[in-house]
Amino acid sequence: MTDVRTKCIEEFKKHFQYDPTMRSYAPGRVNLIGEHTDYNDGFVMPCAIKFGTAIAAAKNNTNKMRILAVDVHGQTDEFEISKDLQKHESKLWSNYLRGVTKLICEKGHKVEGLDLVICGDVPLGAGLSSSASLEVSYGNLLSKAFDLNIPLQEIALIGQAAEAFIGCKCGIMDQTISACGQANCALKIDCRSLELTQVAVPSHLEVVIINSNVKHALVGGEYNERREQCENAAKILGVKALRDATLEQLEANKDKMDELSFKRARHVISEDNRVLEAVKAFADGNLVELAKLMYASHCSMRDDFEITIPEINAIVEIVRDTLGEKAAVRMTGGGFGGSVVAVLEPNDVQKVKDAINAKYPLIAMRDATIFETHATSGASFDLL
Ligand code: GLA
Repeated sequence: MTDVRTKCIEEFKKHFQYDPTMRSYAPGRVNLIGEHTDYNDGFVMPCAIKFGTAIAAAKNNTNKMRILAVDVHGQTDEFEISKDLQKHESKLWSNYLRGVTKLICEKGHKVEGLDLVICGDVPLGAGLSSSASLEVSYGNLLSKAFDLNIPLQEIALIGQAAEAFIGCKCGIMDQTISACGQANCALKIDCRSLELTQVAVPSHLEVVIINSNVKHALVGGEYNERREQCENAAKILGVKALRDATLEQLEANKDKMDELSFKRARHVISEDNRVLEAVKAFADGNLVELAKLMYASHCSMRDDFEITIPEINAIVEIVRDTLGEKAAVRMTGGGFGGSVVAVLEPNDVQKVKDAINAKYPLIAMRDATIFETHATSGASFDLL
């Protein structure tokens, strides 16, 4: 398959009948550990993946964005640039661009019209942050095209705010890794201070993604509900965010909160502890320790945060049955479908593929899709 970075240029020439002058790219992500901790001011450790969103562009001397989204059934959209931009009723993909444009204008930056062709290969609904890769790719494109000099971490914050504009009160993880990832490194993010620490992927380990092919959709709904439950628990505990609470404190206040808030908080507080331990185990290449932490994370998402589904749980158990104590595997991303991430020794990859292909379709009545990836670098821009 043609790389999206090449494809967007070819498609631009076909659609607009002239050559683009610039190109932007930002990757999707897979989160190794630290789920639903980001909006609780906690810790996460994602890495950028080999799929992403590429945009070819040229200035069009108007005040309008004219867009072709090749991989969303070749849909098009056009909107005037303004800080009063409204959402499109049906084209969700365009709302990410509308949101980013609006927010950049609100900051007082001057943006002019562009012709844009977008190509993306992050599987949609797989929990691999196709939307963050679009927001970051587009935000960085505007910054570079109009000399706005917006630092990448601020582009990430703009992407996060665009999600809120659309309806998902997400955290800062996805946009930050898409913007700031480095090749061959996972990124530990302190989601309060926004301090970033690159953690090299040990050379004997590989990151594998297993897409359940049960699509998840995060806009609004269960996601925002989880966030409210966490904020409620933090309020009862008298802390700014769950990042500031300990498990002992939570136990001591058990009677003051409803059972759901307690379970949600227990997931987040214990997950933060696991991330810090996992960063160390991962950096040391200690697969058995990493496996323990990742499975504990999975069980906590399954039992306390209640965001996994049977198909996802089945994949995790198949990998565990296959690899035993070396099975570093868990659900990744927001939940309610999507993907499982595994950190494997290269020799074990084929074993896992064979086991999933043999057993998963019998349980889920569909195939899983398995990708080997490596940790890639974050956003990039070039003049053509
Ligand atoms: C989604 C959100 C992130 C994060 C994860 C769960 O991907 O966009 O901010 O909260 O879910 O860890």
